[in-house]
Amino acid sequence: MPMNDEPNPTDAPADVAPATDQLQHADAAPEPAGVPAAPQAPEPPHIKPANDESIAEAAAFLKAGELVAFPTETVYGLGADASSADAVGKVFKAKGRPATHPVIVHVASAEDIDAFAREVPETARRLARQFWPGPLTLVLKRAQDVPDAVTGGQDTVALRVPSHPVAQALLAAFGGGIAAPSANKFGRVSPTTAEHVGADFGRSIALIVDGGASQVGIESTIVDLSGDAPRLLRPGGVPAAAIEQVLGEALSVAGAEAPRAPGRHTSHYAPRARVKLMRRREMIEALGSHKGRRVAALALEVTMPRLSPALQRVLPAVAAKYAHDLYASLRALDATGADVILAEQPPQTPGWAAVNDRLRRAAGEVVVSDET
Ligand code: TXA
Ligand code: MG
Repeated sequence: MPMNDEPNPTDAPADVAPATDQLQHADAAPEPAGVPAAPQAPEPPHIKPANDESIAEAAAFLKAGELVAFPTETVYGLGADASSADAVGKVFKAKGRPATHPVIVHVASAEDIDAFAREVPETARRLARQFWPGPLTLVLKRAQDVPDAVTGGQDTVALRVPSHPVAQALLAAFGGGIAAPSANKFGRVSPTTAEHVGADFGRSIALIVDGGASQVGIESTIVDLSGDAPRLLRPGGVPAAAIEQVLGEALSVAGAEAPRAPGRHTSHYAPRARVKLMRRREMIEALGSHKGRRVAALALEVTMPRLSPALQRVLPAVAAKYAHDLYASLRALDATGADVILAEQPPQTPGWAAVNDRLRRAAGEVVVSDET
């Protein structure tokens, strides 16, 4: 067995260290004296820590029809003035997202519901009272003057009052609704830090307000109250059972959430690497027979044997903590240059529903018409 050779990816376990060495060398290379600096590194994104000044600046950008990214308790949002079709149009352009996909309007409090929605059912008021501010989005019949750009031309609008203090402060400073999808490029993993947003958008948006890591870590629960019966469109930060308890009835589940055979459509909420969801035993087998692909792992609670620590993330077996770390972990594993990320299947119990939904989406096992 040669000692100094590069590990042979075709017969060794997947223990290849990531290519960070090379990056470090490149960064550390001294500038040759007297030679003009070679191609400029791209300018770093405009990230500013959240304070009164940066929040006022963000509000001014929103008023001027520009885009700003801001923290919410779920994930970072890419915000635009919800009353301006032009501004909202920039969101679609920046994300590379099809214009038919509606965006959530963030508002300061439940008192703003009627500015954006009509024929608001009593169930919406009840859910708002119980869960706002917080990770719940309500889909309601839209008020007449909500731009089509926000609703994707539908007769409904999605509303949410975020609980993050920076989001709250921005809404107060701006004084209107902020249309904001997650601040990631279309089909990519949602951002839970300002750095994630910067990595996707660089300087192409006016400002990124940094409020630290999002506490929940996955997107809001979406409940559609615009029809005859309440429907769960997306599991998320508020458990479906808690919503059902307040409603006093079961939520029907939107057909779009039903799992389908993988490979029939492009994956979304997804890292660049292919994600495969499997049980630990299958993962261990797969790590031993990965046929030259660079394999990384998202393990549950316990480290994967025979895999370099640099190529794995071990997440806690507590759903809320797992959710908090999930997207950052997928991004970190992607950054190792892995071709495949093996994700250990968490328990398939109601408490894990939102996490399992995001993992299935990352693995391309869920068909959705609304990937964002
Ligand atoms: O936690 C969240 O909800 C985050 C933060 C930033 O608030 N936002 C978020 O936005 O996840 P986005 O655009 O990535 O996902 C919004 C989802 C999409 O699935 C979209 O189709 C759905 O909300 N949606 C928006 N308006 C809708 C409507 N009128 N009817 C049905 N679904 C709607
Ligand atoms: Mg999204």
